[in-house]
Amino acid sequence: MRIDIISIFPQFFDCLDVSLMGKARSSGLLQTHVWDLRDWTQDVHRTVDRAPAGGGAGMVMKPDVWGKAIDQVIEQAGAAKTVLAIPTPSGIPLTQSQVRDLAENTEHLVVACGRYEGIDQRVGQYYQQNTEVQVLPFSLGDYVLNGGEVAAVALVEATCRLLEGFVGNPNSLVEESYELSGLLEYPAYTQPATWRGLEIPPVLLSGDHQKVKKWRRQQSLMLTAERRPDLIWKLAPDVLVKSDREILAARGFLPAPYRQQVRFRRAQPGETVTCSAIASRLFPQACPKDLPEEAIACFIEDELSEAAFKAYLDDPNNLIILVEVAPVTQTGTDDTAWETAGYTLIEAGAPGFLPPEENLMQSGGKNCAYLSKCYLDACWHGSGLAGAMLEVSHAYLQESFPHLTKICLGTNRENRQALKFYRHHGYRKCGRRTFLVGGIENLDVIAVRDFTACQVPSWAQNVAQ
Ligand code: ADE
Repeated sequence: MRIDIISIFPQFFDCLDVSLMGKARSSGLLQTHVWDLRDWTQDVHRTVDRAPAGGGAGMVMKPDVWGKAIDQVIEQAGAAKTVLAIPTPSGIPLTQSQVRDLAENTEHLVVACGRYEGIDQRVGQYYQQNTEVQVLPFSLGDYVLNGGEVAAVALVEATCRLLEGFVGNPNSLVEESYELSGLLEYPAYTQPATWRGLEIPPVLLSGDHQKVKKWRRQQSLMLTAERRPDLIWKLAPDVLVKSDREILAARGFLPAPYRQQVRFRRAQPGETVTCSAIASRLFPQACPKDLPEEAIACFIEDELSEAAFKAYLDDPNNLIILVEVAPVTQTGTDDTAWETAGYTLIEAGAPGFLPPEENLMQSGGKNCAYLSKCYLDACWHGSGLAGAMLEVSHAYLQESFPHLTKICLGTNRENRQALKFYRHHGYRKCGRRTFLVGGIENLDVIAVRDFTACQVPSWAQNVAQ
């Protein structure tokens, strides 16, 4: 690749001689030429700028000087096609996919570094008419530099390191931020294992490659969600697996194809209408097909009414976590209409707490909470939201009742999907019970999750408000 840089400060580019860039130049992978724009002036003062047409502050770089310089370097390179990059704060923000495209498809790159108020607009316009030149006005970010030189170095370095043969180990490029996954890179550590009281995360020293891989993926997702939510909304649906979606949902994101934001919060005393409404709406979705409608209606009236939820909410040992979703907005979340999509209800209590019902007590024993309800609107199945809702509820339970070491539940023994879901989230079958819906007996499996053996993942912690 040949690169011509034109600037009024050619000495700025001495930095290209150092490190890998210098090596690439001496190996012939890269040919760079740095030119002084003033060499194309014809007056004694070597003038490159004039006052702006129409008045105003600052100076504008003269098109005639730039035209001669660019014509000459293009002619000298003799390439079939040239990319003319013009750094400017009003350019298109530079991205990794753009520099990859440059590295893979460009034979000749010219970088025209403006100073002052920039280069006369007609320079870019003129070369745009030339089919052998592609004009690329680019910006490094939403801030203003003194000139294009810093941006030119950034462009040249970001592009050249992607040239085949530039870096020793091409694998080091694959996992980098923005490449392939569309996520920020996970954090890196090296010895010593403890530095100023800070430890390397133990999983990285475990030697378990699968666990390391999983941890790194979680870190990438969490970091991107926190620092670059814009990248999360841009992810293609097929780059995310279910476990990725669970993590992102816990952090507030339901990416494509859903494109909704989500939040978790503890229902407050008084929210009887909201709780009863969502519970009554979702209960029928989860019932076995052969259960009579009257039995379902009877259960809703007895167990899921506003009066029933008043009793649940008035007891501080009950935790109700509400899941709410809303479309993504430009203006943030304040003015957003949040809709309830699901909820969990956990019964807990002081040290020594026993779950209600004889069979649950036998299966769970002391210090075992009871996941009495866990419902999510069926339209979210597959989105990762159910797993997020369950783990966030576990995390909230542990924060509020740290003495509880287990949680148990009952679910219909025919409900394969639910059984698989709970198993995946650490629940193990350990008993049976009958569950009455409007007087009709349903056979349930009892399952228990032990928090000491299977910890609540860090991505689910400190999420519920
Ligand atoms: N010249 C001045 N500011 C710039 C920026 N942010 N990006 C590219 N070129 C610039």
